[in-house]
Amino acid sequence: MTQSSTFEPGKTYIPVSGKVYDQEEVNNAIEAAKDAWWTEGRFTKEFERKFRNFMGRRYVSLVNSGSSANLIALYSLTSSVFGKRALQKGDEFITAAVGFPTTVNPGIQFGLTPVFVDIDLKTLNMDVDQMEKAITPKTKLIMMAHTLGIPFDLEKVQYLAKKHELWVIEDSCDALGSRYNGKLVGTFGDIATYSFYPAHQMTMGEGGAIITDNPLIHRSIRQFRDWGRDCWCDTGKDNTCGKRFGWQLGDLPFGYDHKYVYSQIGFNVKLTDFQAAIGVAQIDKVPGFIEARKENYKKLHSFFSKFPELFQLIELSGKEDPCWFGCPVIVKESAPFTRNELTQYLENNNIGTRNVFAGNLLRHPAYLNLKNKRVFGKITEADIVMNQVFWLGVWPGIDDERIVYMTESISKFIKDKS
Ligand SMILES: Cc1ncc(COP(=O)(O)O)c(C=O)c1O
Repeated sequence: MTQSSTFEPGKTYIPVSGKVYDQEEVNNAIEAAKDAWWTEGRFTKEFERKFRNFMGRRYVSLVNSGSSANLIALYSLTSSVFGKRALQKGDEFITAAVGFPTTVNPGIQFGLTPVFVDIDLKTLNMDVDQMEKAITPKTKLIMMAHTLGIPFDLEKVQYLAKKHELWVIEDSCDALGSRYNGKLVGTFGDIATYSFYPAHQMTMGEGGAIITDNPLIHRSIRQFRDWGRDCWCDTGKDNTCGKRFGWQLGDLPFGYDHKYVYSQIGFNVKLTDFQAAIGVAQIDKVPGFIEARKENYKKLHSFFSKFPELFQLIELSGKEDPCWFGCPVIVKESAPFTRNELTQYLENNNIGTRNVFAGNLLRHPAYLNLKNKRVFGKITEADIVMNQVFWLGVWPGIDDERIVYMTESISKFIKDKS
């Protein structure tokens, strides 16, 4: 089940993303309803296990969105258990000027200073040479996304993180299944985050995950996710620690119920078992979804590469193996049409298009008004992304018939314009 299987060129809309599912997802959601548990439960446990195996990471925590995953990932590093490495208000974090707002917002919300660095048009990811220059003694964290599934330069990021003792949060929300030097992205930094909103490589409707290999970070993630509490019992369980009435923490009396002891100023962003139940069915389909995305990208890439005078495409270094979120295209300034003219034409012809999220974040009212920020050097490429880049869908619901219609429509547009 995806979209309407009958396709009428020009009449059936081709969205840039969508859900691909069958009866299994529906059955699981019904099972979760029949369980009458509804909060985090057996499907959550099963999804955590499957996702741990898929990613090859030790710890998985589920949350209600990718944005919540970023929020909790960042706050987890503020715990005093990390001593002088704990993030403190006023510390700086390095992030990209191009991207999605909730990659950057948690740092700002906590009181860190974002340091915006320009991107490189070749990959739409941060220009890592500039990143190196932007690091100061105040820098504590690198937090950015693998744009549209394209891995950022993880070798350089790991080198700089080690050299300057920086935390790395890989926002992998758009990059489930992408690899760098053969290894899954999300397994390089201290923490990685995922979104399971329907536009992504798999879905739970709404949902997200946070993964790490570090037991201290995991403990902190759970505390911030679950109201700030010290206790680590699963929902519905008591006394996992074996000394529920045997702790003395803070100024509380000895034996105060550990379930209600708070070590952090926390949140509650857990998900429901309905979401996890859908995820349990989806995760088994992910290898097929990844292949379909790569195949669709290849077809669109080969089409656009016939017009080097009009379009610039992503240039990979050979280390990246993206699981594409979409097919990004840069409309050259010398082309006889603008990005907006092309995307308007495509939308008029029932072909969905998107810009690269916020484009240049710094030009948005919220970030223009932000006093506490540092902008490193000149931000010029991000403006090109804002003005000249769009992307088309490559999700598994796009079949050959649709690709043919998409490419023929673009060919017609180009012919009319030249
Ligand atoms: C890079 C990136 N990070 C975070 C998010 C937020 O995910 P969610 O919509 O699940 O909150 C998105 C959303 O698409 C995203 O593209």
